[in-house]
Amino acid sequence: LPHDAPRAEIERLSPRGFILSGGPSSVYDAGAPSLPPYLRAPSVPVLGVCYGMQLLAHELGGVVRPAGRREYGPATISVCDDSNLFRALPSSLNVWMSHGDSIEQLPAGFTALAQSPNTPFAAMSDPARRFYGVQFHPEVTHTEHGLDILRRFVLEVCQCAPDWSPENIIQESVALVRALVGDGRVLCALSGGVDSAVTATLAAHAVGERLTCVFVDHGLLRAGEADEAMALFTNHLDLNVVRVNAAERFLARLDGVVEPERKRKIIGEEFIRVFEDEAARRGPFAFLAQGTLYPDVIESAGPGKKDAARIKSHHNVGGLPERMDFKLVEPLKRLFKDEVRAIGRALGLPERWVNRQPFPGPGLAVRIIGPVTRAALDTLRAADAIVRAEVEAAGAERALWQYFAVLTPVQTVGVMGDHRTYANLIAVRAVTSEDGMTAQWAALPHDLLGRISARIVNEVPGVNRVVYDITSKPPSTIEWE
Ligand code: XMP
Repeated sequence: LPHDAPRAEIERLSPRGFILSGGPSSVYDAGAPSLPPYLRAPSVPVLGVCYGMQLLAHELGGVVRPAGRREYGPATISVCDDSNLFRALPSSLNVWMSHGDSIEQLPAGFTALAQSPNTPFAAMSDPARRFYGVQFHPEVTHTEHGLDILRRFVLEVCQCAPDWSPENIIQESVALVRALVGDGRVLCALSGGVDSAVTATLAAHAVGERLTCVFVDHGLLRAGEADEAMALFTNHLDLNVVRVNAAERFLARLDGVVEPERKRKIIGEEFIRVFEDEAARRGPFAFLAQGTLYPDVIESAGPGKKDAARIKSHHNVGGLPERMDFKLVEPLKRLFKDEVRAIGRALGLPERWVNRQPFPGPGLAVRIIGPVTRAALDTLRAADAIVRAEVEAAGAERALWQYFAVLTPVQTVGVMGDHRTYANLIAVRAVTSEDGMTAQWAALPHDLLGRISARIVNEVPGVNRVVYDITSKPPSTIEWE
């Protein structure tokens, strides 16, 4: 919830505790999120993370020093008090820091829990008032024991019960969809990914025959993908699916478009228009179900998220046009990918489908740097099929979150046979990640990279050079656009 959510909305949830998140502001910025008045003397515990900790320190009487220099990236903290958040954890932890300002003096009642070379206050607490703060980010995978720290706060300090299970979430989601939809009819957007397959299966459980699925082949899919997806939907999941071949429409609208956010907006909007056309043909449908995940919501900084920095408009959120004829049904909107996979398994989706690598809604359009043309799509599709085939033949995919090719407009000189070539550069990207929010570039074996490169240059016309992307997220993102 945003920091200025109405108090009544928060009370309706009867929270057992509060976590104040990090954010891009400094407590000294005009208009920076402030501590809601009801959190000055709350009846439940509060944990501030990064900006959240600085805000607690600043507003409860401590001193926050404006940024001298930014501390960004890995840091090692030493635990100096292991009586609460850090109980039973190693005395030295590698954590992920990302902040400008830092705390110079703790408010009265607080003591330091950990220090780093850059700050004596890497974590703090006032156990009597049940205030806690960590300067680092426990929620990212680069932080050792980050989940243990969060678990300790949520389960022990706030005394919440760990009752998340796929079965509970399925029951809740089915009930929510039923309540939302009533006796209306639902159109579901199927992309071929695990998110929309899980969304459709949940919707089918909720409304049965009143669900019609539409699979839009926007021409931006990978090699073989459309046929494989249709086979899964109809043979295995027994969904009622209409396939729409809309490649011409999408390519026409993308003609000459280079700017990534415009590509996303156009594709998101065209999706909706295709659905509206199908709805008009087969409807009426009052509802549109789609597989939006929580990271899409966070990173798109959509309505209700105005203070999070906008990174990308993921097409099924930020890309939605202003005018829409559907009400949205998004049963996965509060879930992360690993949770959706657990639900997919519980719903009986085949393992190979549950474990599929994520594929962005705007498809290959955001992996072609520059204008999207038929020729560029053919080139990228061929290169991408080689990346996938070789990674899978080596059994390397199990450890990876995503592995794919990117077509760049960079042209370089090469020599093939006895001829000079002047052709495009393909980048290969492979990353490991827990949830897509952060990612590490994957150290693929050199012989595997060598095979991928040799095959792409030999088999894909118009490509004479292959490079491997060795940046993590942050500071890069996973997709190139
Ligand atoms: P980035 O590039 O933001 O990607 O680090 C994080 C994860 O999200 C996927 N992604 C998208 N998914 N629509 C989607 O449905 C989009 O516009 C989009 N952009 C990125 C990306 O593949 C990665 O898994």
